[in-house]
Amino acid sequence: MSSQTLTRSEVFGQLRKELYGEEQSTQTNTHIFIILGASGDLAKKKIYPTLWWLFRDGLLPDDTLFVGFARSKLTVEDIRAACLPHMKVTAAESESLSAFFGKNSYLSGTYDESGSFKQLDGHLSSLPGGSGANRLFYLALPPSVYHHVSANIRHHCTSSRGWNRLIVEKPFGRDLQSSQQLSVHLSSLFKEDQIYRIDHYLGKEMVQNLMVLRFGNRIFGPIWNRDNVACVVLTFKEPFGTQGRGGYFDDFGIIRDVMQNHLLQMLCLVAMEKPASTSPDDVRDEKVKVLKCVSPVEAPDVVLGQYIGNPDGKGHSRLGYQDDPTVPSGSCTPTFATAVLYVHNERWDGVPFILRCGKALNERKAEVRLQFTDVPGDIFGERCQRNELVVRVQPDEAIYLKMMTKRPGVYFSPEETELDLTYKSRYKDVKLPDAYERLILDVFCGNQMHFVRSDELREAWRIFTPLLHQIEAEKKAPLPYTYGSRGPAEADDLVKRVGFRYEGKYKWVQPHTN
Ligand code: NDP
Ligand code: BG6
Repeated sequence: MSSQTLTRSEVFGQLRKELYGEEQSTQTNTHIFIILGASGDLAKKKIYPTLWWLFRDGLLPDDTLFVGFARSKLTVEDIRAACLPHMKVTAAESESLSAFFGKNSYLSGTYDESGSFKQLDGHLSSLPGGSGANRLFYLALPPSVYHHVSANIRHHCTSSRGWNRLIVEKPFGRDLQSSQQLSVHLSSLFKEDQIYRIDHYLGKEMVQNLMVLRFGNRIFGPIWNRDNVACVVLTFKEPFGTQGRGGYFDDFGIIRDVMQNHLLQMLCLVAMEKPASTSPDDVRDEKVKVLKCVSPVEAPDVVLGQYIGNPDGKGHSRLGYQDDPTVPSGSCTPTFATAVLYVHNERWDGVPFILRCGKALNERKAEVRLQFTDVPGDIFGERCQRNELVVRVQPDEAIYLKMMTKRPGVYFSPEETELDLTYKSRYKDVKLPDAYERLILDVFCGNQMHFVRSDELREAWRIFTPLLHQIEAEKKAPLPYTYGSRGPAEADDLVKRVGFRYEGKYKWVQPHTN
């Protein structure tokens, strides 16, 4: 049956069965989801709302309880009030929302004191079914307290009768060395199969679709290589700046914020060989193999930019990065980067993988684009454009293949058009879950396929650390670009130099959807 024809409750019913299988009926353990940093921004904007949506849709195991922990002295009512604006609750759902918060409790404590964690453990054990419960610990915390908190959880809060899983958010360190220190610390406390490192791009529909697209179709495999692909472009663009987050961002920059994780993960899924199976470790083994074939990025293959205000713009767009009072003046932190990577293996040798990301650009967009080589032996007088396969991750998920066709009618000339799979017209009634919904469910189910393994992380840092150190040592001002533009022109020059062809002739006419 196509997913198009299912009702909402059928979809959730099927999904629940797929997630928990027959185990569901025999499962007796309570689950406790513990949010450390429950008073913070991530918890309020993302984690609590996600848990609520999963609860509302009946996707969590029946006996799931939620415990918040942070330094502030708060009540569940305070948490509820802080989260409510982000939870999208309809009037009909208010009873269900009360049931959700009825399963919540909150405890305040200090992150570096074992006494607080002993208290937390006492609280967890006092909950119905708590002493034998499976425990999921979500670290929605600044990295500065990861060490203490993970050690305290391990020593004082793990359940001996149920399983224990730790969910960690980026940044996983600042470079190869600091990331390795964190990995060594975590692996001294937890086994790798207990650690869930989130890269939320791995929870996105179209990122997950890359494997099915590649390995579930006959047509792409034979052309997915250096003989047919001229270049691969991986793009992340945001139409707003760092306003309000400038202090945090300035310490990291766009390479650590987006390129080293989100874009590199997409690169792995595009470039890896077919895994032996869809088991999490088979998939991650292949991702690691690809990363091992990528040499560290070199400065001549990189263009860095920083946005300046647009005097003709409105509101925030009038302000440049350095106009943010939380950003130190004279900051050399890039808010835009284009970098070219090469995968030195038999499939990809010589093919540029162009990673582009930036803040305060002309649009919101994340996509994977394969540009194919020219057709050899042209008989159409150079009127054919290169084929492109585009997987648009967001917004408006779509897969389209830009291709040549005969201009319809009495003509006999080639014209560029597209095969278009636009999700909102093809899958009208399907609601795509948010990345965090999928990933949190995966943690409940113990599936690590969409989480970053420690060796993947090490390879990712190996590729970017020399460049990051060089940028920080040189303190060279990035190229300015105007808020709302496509970024510095030098980035287009770089991608042209490595072989990306842009003709500027393609015009897409949006079909009517009703
Ligand atoms: P374009 O020809 O507009 O862009 C192709 C690529 O060229 C993009 O990577 C773009 O980068 C880059 N580019 C744009 N300007 C320049 C420049 N001056 N120099 C160098 N490179 C440049 O084709 P698209 O495939 O992007 O399609 C055009 C529009 O049609 C898009 O908005 C797309 O989403 C839409 N479309 C939607 C479909 C759907 O919803 N199903 C199907 C087909 C198309 P950059 O990202 O920086 O602009
Ligand atoms: C985060 C970055 O990882 O991803 C942010 O830290 C960025 O800077 C965000 O805005 C983008 O996520 P999404 O899902 O909105 O594309």
